[in-house]
Amino acid sequence: MIADKKIVFSGVQPSGNLTIGNYLGAIKNFSAFSDEYKCFYCVVDLHAVTVRQVPAELRRRTYETLALYIACGLDPEKNTLFVQSHVPAHAELAWSLNCYTMFGELSRMTQFKDKSAKHANNINAGLFTYPVLMASDILLYQTDLVPVGVDQKQHLELARDIAIRFNGVYSDTFTVPEGYIPPAGMKIMSLADPTSKMSKSDPNANAVVYILDSKDDIIRKFKRAVTDSDCEIRYAEGKDGINNLMSIYKCFTGKEFSDIEREFDGKGYGDFKLAVGEACADALAPVRGEFERLMADKAYLEGVMKAGADEANYHARKTLSKVYRKIGFTQIK
Ligand code: TRP
Repeated sequence: MIADKKIVFSGVQPSGNLTIGNYLGAIKNFSAFSDEYKCFYCVVDLHAVTVRQVPAELRRRTYETLALYIACGLDPEKNTLFVQSHVPAHAELAWSLNCYTMFGELSRMTQFKDKSAKHANNINAGLFTYPVLMASDILLYQTDLVPVGVDQKQHLELARDIAIRFNGVYSDTFTVPEGYIPPAGMKIMSLADPTSKMSKSDPNANAVVYILDSKDDIIRKFKRAVTDSDCEIRYAEGKDGINNLMSIYKCFTGKEFSDIEREFDGKGYGDFKLAVGEACADALAPVRGEFERLMADKAYLEGVMKAGADEANYHARKTLSKVYRKIGFTQIK
């Protein structure tokens, strides 16, 4: 608890290429937490270097990710937005927690298995201990709730296990966090293959709509979206492409499925795809404008980073010194 509020923490990798799936399924809803919770949103640059990064790109993407979050509605006055490497306690706690995490547990992580298959020439120790750093991120802030995608569920479970284990050895030290997985309806599928999730690393450029795509690109991608051959705009089993487009349209316009069916009764897929593209482009235009404005104001972004780091550092230090005391490290004033 901080000032009587429960705590939310989430981390995002510094990649500017967020998709409308990330937007509708996660970021857009993050701002809703800030009334009820004390929220920390962290750009996890330490995590990013578990795979090889081009230094200038990593730096640029760190700014971009922060700017994008603010542009999507996360107000830095109401949320603590910060960069992981600016708060040394993350790396420090990760070392200690490494010693309370089992080799076998980390070996079972599916993301480690996937990533080591994908980066076979760089299976570094950081890739292996990645979930321990993530546990440290979460546990440092005595987090109650962690909004994450389903793909991070296993890491979150591990964070809970580490917290429970540490508390068991030394008495209560960490809050045991709960995950918050967005409702399934929020899952946005690929435009090229509506049976698989829209993924920012999809090699097919037409499958993915990025938050920062231009209006023309957005409309072109929706025009090419894969549908079916029955020409009816109706939410139904087996109509994965249309269902996905209807969900996207619903998210951007707030209309219910029954209203959408009525709106496009007797119309063709071409008209519908254009309408979805336009609704999406119109909703994202202000986000893109705000993003560009923020990226042109580095001094402002650095001010946000600094204020966020100061605030995060204060809370993180408190937990870290508690942990060090319990472990038995000597402390000097
Ligand atoms: N591993 C998360 C991902 O790739 C990012 C992350 C790092 C995170 N630390 C976190 C998410 C802490 C939630 C809480 O999506």
